[in-house]
Amino acid sequence: MTPPNVPALSAHGVCFGYTGREVIHDVDLELGRGTVTAIAGPNGAGKSTLLEILAGVRTPQKGEVRRLGTVSLVVQRPAAPETLPITVRDTVSMGTWGRLGRRQAREIVAEMIDAVGLTGYESRSLTDLSGGQRQRTLLAQALARRADIVLMDEPDAGLDAASRGRIHDLLLDQADCRGAVVVCATHHDGFIATADRVVRLGHTSRQDLID
Ligand SMILES: Nc1ncnc2c1ncn2[C@@H]1O[C@H](COP(=O)(O)OP(=O)(O)OP(=O)(O)O)[C@@H](O)[C@H]1O
Ligand SMILES: [Mg+2]
Repeated sequence: MTPPNVPALSAHGVCFGYTGREVIHDVDLELGRGTVTAIAGPNGAGKSTLLEILAGVRTPQKGEVRRLGTVSLVVQRPAAPETLPITVRDTVSMGTWGRLGRRQAREIVAEMIDAVGLTGYESRSLTDLSGGQRQRTLLAQALARRADIVLMDEPDAGLDAASRGRIHDLLLDQADCRGAVVVCATHHDGFIATADRVVRLGHTSRQDLID
């Protein structure tokens, strides 16, 4: 694990554009363990692009990103396997494969299913869940990985108020209880207000960092 004073995730002078049009301009970030960062901004501002760069899915055209530790990324509107008859428990368990011993994996799977409010649904097939329940199953899968760096692209979109609050609390816990670096794109002011840091992206391609 990274010592607390060393940034676990940093970006320096990061720029990125699609077909010549710059979307991300000169982003600088130094994020330590146990911190929560919200990425805010209107549709098309570059939130997903920045998360993909931070995750290493896209390579910055200028600048560099450094990551210390494992990374878990939940993309915007993940394609939940809604036609596959896999249970909630098995889906969440996939997050632990190759990472945890069997007993620890069982405990964490149960903990994450409970944390996303799906206790009692463990044996239900994904085919028999609502869209929000499927989404929460995939969030539980991502968090069961217990990655050092947790990157989430609008995990709260489309959820009812109670589920949204639960997911927000869960993300805060990831930072507070196990020292994860949490970065989350969101449109929800409540979560933005509780974040340690807010990265605001705008159509002007300027980034304002608010501590
Ligand atoms: N694969 C792509 N090819 C070309 N342009 C793209 C591509 N992906 C995104 N863009 C453009 O880059 C800009 C930023 O897109 P991005 O998806 O990062 O925004 P966002 O802030 O996540 O928006 P939203 O709130 O709608 O999710 C948009 O103008 C979009 O049209
Ligand atoms: Mg997006």
